[in-house]
Amino acid sequence: MTSPLERTSPLERSLVLVKPDAVRRGLLGEIISRFERKGLVIEAMELRTMDAALADEHYADHVEKAFYPPLKEFMTSGPLAALVLSGDQVIEVVRAMIGSTDGRKAAAGTIRGDLSLSNRENLVHASDSPESAARELSLWFPKL
Ligand code: CMP
Repeated sequence: MTSPLERTSPLERSLVLVKPDAVRRGLLGEIISRFERKGLVIEAMELRTMDAALADEHYADHVEKAFYPPLKEFMTSGPLAALVLSGDQVIEVVRAMIGSTDGRKAAAGTIRGDLSLSNRENLVHASDSPESAARELSLWFPKL
């Protein structure tokens, strides 16, 4: 954990979803453990199944895309873990830790690069900017 004195910017929060493929494959512990070992703080965590309405809201930018129907089916197919992570530059740090979208191309050492072979079933979603973090956090954890 970074002490307040070491921080280079205000403390950030990110919304992270450990997706249904990770839960089915028994990778929840491995993935959460990577975030913990990095020094990030789990501020909230909930196992829940995304419904169709939440999927459409969460992925509002993607609903018109060709890959959205199978993505929606996958994301609503079983329980996922929704987490609020905090830490110094957490948004950028988590994006680097999960790697690029396509697990086949993601760099070794990243979560997707090490554990996923798919462009869709890529184990983790994480907010990609402060604006999307604010939107996604209010969607998933409105009381926080
Ligand atoms: P995520 O970070 O949750 O953001 C959008 C998701 O859509 C992405 O991870 C993938 O699961 C999925 N996705 C993005 N691009 C494609 C694609 N070309 N084909 C299939 N799924 C995709």
